Amino acid sequence: MSTQRTATLTIDGTSHEFPILSGSVGPDVVDIRSMYAKTGMFTFDPGFMSTASCKSTITYIDGDKGELLYRGYPIEQLAEKCDFLETCYLLLYGELPNAEQNKEFHSIIKNHTMVHEQLIRFYSGFRRDAHPMAVLVGVVGALSAFYHDAMDVSDEHHRRVSAHRLVAKMPTIVAMAYKYGRGEPFMYPRNDLSYTANFMHMMFGTPCEKYEPNPVLVKALDRILILHADHEQNASTSTVRLSGSSGANPFACIAAGIACLWGPAHGGANEACLQMLEEIGDVSRVGEYIKRAKDKNDGFKLMGFGHRVYKNFDPRAKLMRETCHEVLNELGLQDDRLFKLAMALEKIALEDDYFIEKKLYPNVDFYSGIVQKALGIPTQLFTGIFALARTVGWIAQWKEMISDPEQKIGRPRQLFTGANARNVLPVDQR
Ligand code: CMC
Repeated sequence: MSTQRTATLTIDGTSHEFPILSGSVGPDVVDIRSMYAKTGMFTFDPGFMSTASCKSTITYIDGDKGELLYRGYPIEQLAEKCDFLETCYLLLYGELPNAEQNKEFHSIIKNHTMVHEQLIRFYSGFRRDAHPMAVLVGVVGALSAFYHDAMDVSDEHHRRVSAHRLVAKMPTIVAMAYKYGRGEPFMYPRNDLSYTANFMHMMFGTPCEKYEPNPVLVKALDRILILHADHEQNASTSTVRLSGSSGANPFACIAAGIACLWGPAHGGANEACLQMLEEIGDVSRVGEYIKRAKDKNDGFKLMGFGHRVYKNFDPRAKLMRETCHEVLNELGLQDDRLFKLAMALEKIALEDDYFIEKKLYPNVDFYSGIVQKALGIPTQLFTGIFALARTVGWIAQWKEMISDPEQKIGRPRQLFTGANARNVLPVDQR
């Protein structure tokens, strides 16, 4: 990286120079690490609108072009030519696996899919109607109790094994959260199936009869996993990095990421989008909801629209839209009420000046909810599927952070606007 160019900041007539760093692609950054020492001032950037929080080699997004690359590979090509586990290998190790590496990785993951029998008991501590994300935060956090003493974050081998365990066990844990809510028996993994087909077996199979996953639906779900696998320094990934920066147990850090993902402005949007479509109910009411979304005094937002980074069509949304049509055709659901409603909403919003001016396009969650619903996944579990997919991105980013020699504990500062120092008065004088 070149540090020849500098940026000058002049405060009260005194100028200070800061190096400009360039990445391989994307905007340059002003390196302000020495700013407080030089000027006695902090920068102020709540919501990280203009802040690069780390160096990373994993995922690149160009929001204006609508481009998403994992380790340099366009998401469109990965979605077309690779399966989810190849994508996981790419995110974790930087390159796509060759045939031998691919076989070995598939075998490692398959051989780590079972969870400790004692972990199963955690589920019974939850109410049957508990939200699956609450269950996932708890159960994934509990994994840290199973793999704590044997986990040294400074050991590369330990980090690798943790990554494999997480990728392998998440489908089992998510499927168990679903089965628990339904009161059905947990299904053990099947090693004769692919990663995604096995997940569908653990979700939809029962001990009473053999479950045969439909290849079109397996492909659709695998695509959902690929498209959600990583997304640069989003809120949940930054949460995982920040938690991990203290050297905390990686399973506990992933639980923190799951908690963050749950919010409706982030991964919770796919669930919120389906709820919104149910609430709108009919094409005739779309106009009313579009009007509400534009009203500053109404807190309502069109769920599944807008993105902090994409100010052009979300490339994942294009692929998910395609998958949406494939799945609905396969299942004969072309005339599905919610799907028709979603298409009408999409059309009206895309032609509306408010949405055009603000560059608000449908995001991936707008379509992934419809696909998941068609696959038979209950709305409450949508964000859990997102968490299953994003786990590999979180753990890849965590690994990258821990092995970075410049890594420090994350510790932002603040602009304090509270009371100045004052004395505590006796209670009768306050
Ligand atoms: N409906 C109506 N207006 C919107 C919407 C929306 N969905 N999204 C943004 N706006 C307006 C917003 O009110 C603001 O208006 P103004 O300039 O008049 O104040 C302007 O557009 C800019 O929005 P913002 O909220 O300041 O932008 P942000 O970058 O802080 O937020 C977002 C991005 C994704 C949180 C927001 O667009 C949103 O809440 N969308 C709905 C939830 C959603 O679908 N989230 C999933 C994101 S994709 C999955 C993921 O990566 O997690």
